[in-house]
Amino acid sequence: MAQSEAQRGPMRKEGEMAATEIVEVSSPESAPSRYHRICDLDSIWPGEMAVHEVEGVKIIVIHTESGVVRAVQYICPHQSFTLSDGGLEGDILTCSKHLWEFNVVSGCGVNPTGAEITLYPVKVENGGIHVAIAGIEPKYARP
Ligand code: FES
Repeated sequence: MAQSEAQRGPMRKEGEMAATEIVEVSSPESAPSRYHRICDLDSIWPGEMAVHEVEGVKIIVIHTESGVVRAVQYICPHQSFTLSDGGLEGDILTCSKHLWEFNVVSGCGVNPTGAEITLYPVKVENGGIHVAIAGIEPKYARP
């Protein structure tokens, strides 16, 4: 995935570690039993996001500037455009197609407020980001 400089955040120096303040999320919608190690935590720096595929499902792994790690659905709930082509500014991910905005920490729509994106359960363990997706579906806007 090509990322703009704004999405990538500050340049890291060789040997420098990523931020360590990580907030773990557990979705109340499921009790996942199978986490998959997606990548090393320090491969996604604060302010960056990256597309990964888990069990054939594309997801976006996000490390916010404030150090929160989230895994969200790949497609926009509005008209299924790829959210990874959007812009990440703080906690807000903006879809590049029609500019819907989502708070990636809460999963709630900012504009419009009635929209939501799926947050997949994430844990950071042994320097890796682990995500569970089984039984969790992307959300779509209601007609
Ligand atoms: S497809 Fe994302 S805002 Fe319309």
